[in-house]
Amino acid sequence: MSAVLEGLGVPIVGAPMAGGPSTPALVAAVSGAGGIGFLGAGYKSVEALRADVAETRERTGGGDGVPFGVNVFTPGGAVRADPEALAAYVARLAGEAAEAGVELGTPRHDDDAFDGKVLALVEDPVAVVSFTFGLPPREAVERLRAAGSEVWITVTSPNEARAAAALKPDALIVQGVEAGGHRGVFADDDTASELTLLVALQLVGTALPGVPLVATGGLTTGAAIGAALVAGARAAQVGTAYLLAEEAGTSKAQREATADGAPTRLTRAFSGRTARGIVNRFLTDHTAGAPPGYPEVHYLTTPLRAHGRATDHPDIINLWAGQAHQLAREEPAAEITRRLAAEARAAIASAAGLLR
Ligand SMILES: Cc1cc2nc3c(=O)[nH]c(=O)nc-3n(C[C@H](O)[C@H](O)[C@H](O)COP(=O)(O)O)c2cc1C
Repeated sequence: MSAVLEGLGVPIVGAPMAGGPSTPALVAAVSGAGGIGFLGAGYKSVEALRADVAETRERTGGGDGVPFGVNVFTPGGAVRADPEALAAYVARLAGEAAEAGVELGTPRHDDDAFDGKVLALVEDPVAVVSFTFGLPPREAVERLRAAGSEVWITVTSPNEARAAAALKPDALIVQGVEAGGHRGVFADDDTASELTLLVALQLVGTALPGVPLVATGGLTTGAAIGAALVAGARAAQVGTAYLLAEEAGTSKAQREATADGAPTRLTRAFSGRTARGIVNRFLTDHTAGAPPGYPEVHYLTTPLRAHGRATDHPDIINLWAGQAHQLAREEPAAEITRRLAAEARAAIASAAGLLR
């Protein structure tokens, strides 16, 4: 049982989108429209996370205001790079760096300040803390719940769902392979699930009856959200549909690519961890040669990607987006939330009529 999910005005979760899109203004707009918005703690310093939580709290009405959540990367999500493969990739990207006139970043290993972020959220609790990239340590789950937060865990398969259920989360976020951005898979290797959302929902729902499920991946229209609800989800977590919202911190190049119809692909080229992005030149040229290694490769390509965003050069940016990105619309986030809910309601009613 998730009291937060039970209390939602509309069953829509604004997906955490680390790296810029999920601003306090976007999160507050989704929560204000009856859904629940999520900040992405990923890549941020602990101080920046604290500041964003404070700003979002203010924008959502203070202590008694509408709920919002924060998403944290688990430390288990890191993937050690093979030194030789990493060195070869550094050499391979030298030409990219020279062309852009930037120096490549220094690959390094860290846990994205996991302990500091959990402490910040224990000291200043939010309604929900969600995790991706694997199981959070049990101790972190217990401290966050003791502080009054719900804990949701992202899974992509029945096996991951069973392992997560052992931590007694308030909800599981079931992510299909259609999803934009990094996959939530526990192990980013050949064993990773490739299940699409509807299949994953059926399998996880059957394996763990009674656990509230939040569906995510490729849900860019209300009709698709309706399908996920009918398939057993308690709510839909929507990312790409908010990328063009005026409150989102999406870069200009990414906005243009999102609106365009280019296909998406899974790649490790930008970060060393598998993620779905819109196909561009960097993705095409480097996906085959990119080694697993997260966050090493993320740090390696950071200056290139920053240069691409600053100079509006989409060919070297990680254009994270879900498979149905061209259906995203440029509207205020509250309007997107209300429109998706109304479309879902209409689609479900219309589909029910087929079964007289
Ligand atoms: C730009 C972008 C950034 C993302 N960052 C995160 C993140 O920080 N944490 C997370 O759990 N999921 C992240 N995701 C995945 C979303 O939570 C969600 O699963 C995905 O957006 C669903 O697919 P859709 O984009 O087709 O709606 C990100 C997705 C996108 C598009």
